[in-house]
Amino acid sequence: MEITKICCIGAGYVGGPTMAVIAQKCPHLKITVVDLNQERIDAWNDENTDNIPIFEPGLSSVVAETRGKNLFFSNDVEKAIEEAQIIFISVNTPTKTYGKGKGMAADLKYIELCARQIAKVAKDNKIVVEKSTLPVRTAEAIKSILDNTGNGVQFQILSNPEFLAEGTAISDLLNPDRILIGGDQTPEGQKAIQALVDIYANWVPQDKILTTNVWSSELSKLTANAFLAQRISSINALSELCEKTGADINEVARAIGMDTRIGSKFLKASVGFGGSCFKKDILNLVYIAKSYGLNETADYWEQVIIMNDHQKKRFADKIVKTLYNTVAGKKITFLGWAFKKDTNDTRESAAIYIADDLINEQAGICVYDPKVNQKKILADLDYLETRSAAENAKSTKSFENPYDACQGAHAIAVLTEWEEFVDYDWQRIYDAMQKPAFVFDGRNILNKTEMQKIGFVYQAIGS
Ligand code: UDX
Ligand code: ADP
Repeated sequence: MEITKICCIGAGYVGGPTMAVIAQKCPHLKITVVDLNQERIDAWNDENTDNIPIFEPGLSSVVAETRGKNLFFSNDVEKAIEEAQIIFISVNTPTKTYGKGKGMAADLKYIELCARQIAKVAKDNKIVVEKSTLPVRTAEAIKSILDNTGNGVQFQILSNPEFLAEGTAISDLLNPDRILIGGDQTPEGQKAIQALVDIYANWVPQDKILTTNVWSSELSKLTANAFLAQRISSINALSELCEKTGADINEVARAIGMDTRIGSKFLKASVGFGGSCFKKDILNLVYIAKSYGLNETADYWEQVIIMNDHQKKRFADKIVKTLYNTVAGKKITFLGWAFKKDTNDTRESAAIYIADDLINEQAGICVYDPKVNQKKILADLDYLETRSAAENAKSTKSFENPYDACQGAHAIAVLTEWEEFVDYDWQRIYDAMQKPAFVFDGRNILNKTEMQKIGFVYQAIGS
């Protein structure tokens, strides 16, 4: 089968950037990205590509180059499915909030809905590609739905997990460490794998394209994220020890990172990891391990999450303790709300949990984030259901610029590593704050000596 048309269900952080890059690298393919969310599709189609719903360095120019030529965004899910030979599923798979596996297992209702829709619409053979991170053996469920509810056409299911990190999505997609494609070991399965390999081969060297069976591919994605998150929890566990002993975590990280067997990446102590993947994927891994009765394995990985929750809690506690054991009625300014720099994504951001703790202590929270607005901040807090939306709105306010946000503040908490924070006029900020002026650097990005010279009481993670 010659591939000429592909579609992607889900126009989110994964689907949008991935399809934009495939469109750029494969001008011979027509690519349609569909989503149920009309507002999101309208934003992707906004005349000004700076207004697309996802902020990601370099994305807007790739979209400007390809949109309307071979890249299309639409709400017509059925038409796109019918036309395409390859269908990517890139919908959200949040952690279940109800029933069996609540708080741990992945909620597959969106995936199932997609599978049923594909089964209903497809009139010829299709290759269905799992792009969302899915627990091991999801492909089996998709296959069963497709085979039993479809119109008698043949489906091949591939697993092709996305390893892009937000904030560097475009360069990760252009220059991936590897592309992983899992499929059936049958001749038809191998043919489907080859069809997808041929697409990536337009810009990725063959030796970086890895093919495996479906289950290995699914598990590799969970495992990659678990290993990365484990490194952060390990360094964060040591950051607490450094604070007690007078060692400096940055020096420790540098010293161990120079051991090439360990390597320097993912050793930055922080207020805790966030994002849509790490927590969810580890919980998934834990759930799968438990369901096979592997309790030690489950507990081992769960500890990575426990450590991360502890790191966030510890940071909030430290602010309260340092501010003379009370923050009631005090103004605390957050610099950064996104879960990391260069993205407008806030899912599982440490800032949300720290704000929640501090609002419990009756602090007033002011926020400045270059890419996150007040509406999103309040929605994140409301989602926790700790208190009413009205109370959240009363305690939290976001600002258009950092200087207004810091005016009259008792303390500043740096929660995202946005590079622009380093270049602020910190003297001006100091002058506008209550004294003593506290800075809690949850990302270790500011210069301690300079901050102390200005007069700040400065505390960083792990030193
Ligand atoms: C991650 C994986 O890196 C990616 O391969 C996968 O496809 C999806 O999940 P992402 O969530 O976008 O990507 O961001 P990542 O850069 O991995 O950071 C995750 C969190 O860890 C962020 O909150 C980040 O600030 C934090 N982090 C990262 C640290 O605290 N210290 C570090 O050294 C690195
Ligand atoms: P990710 O980070 O995995 O890309 P997002 O939440 O950013 O996750 O994107 C997932 C998108 O999938 C959302 O825009 C959501 O509206 C869309 N979606 C979920 N279910 C369906 C469905 N059945 N059909 C079309 N789009 C869907």
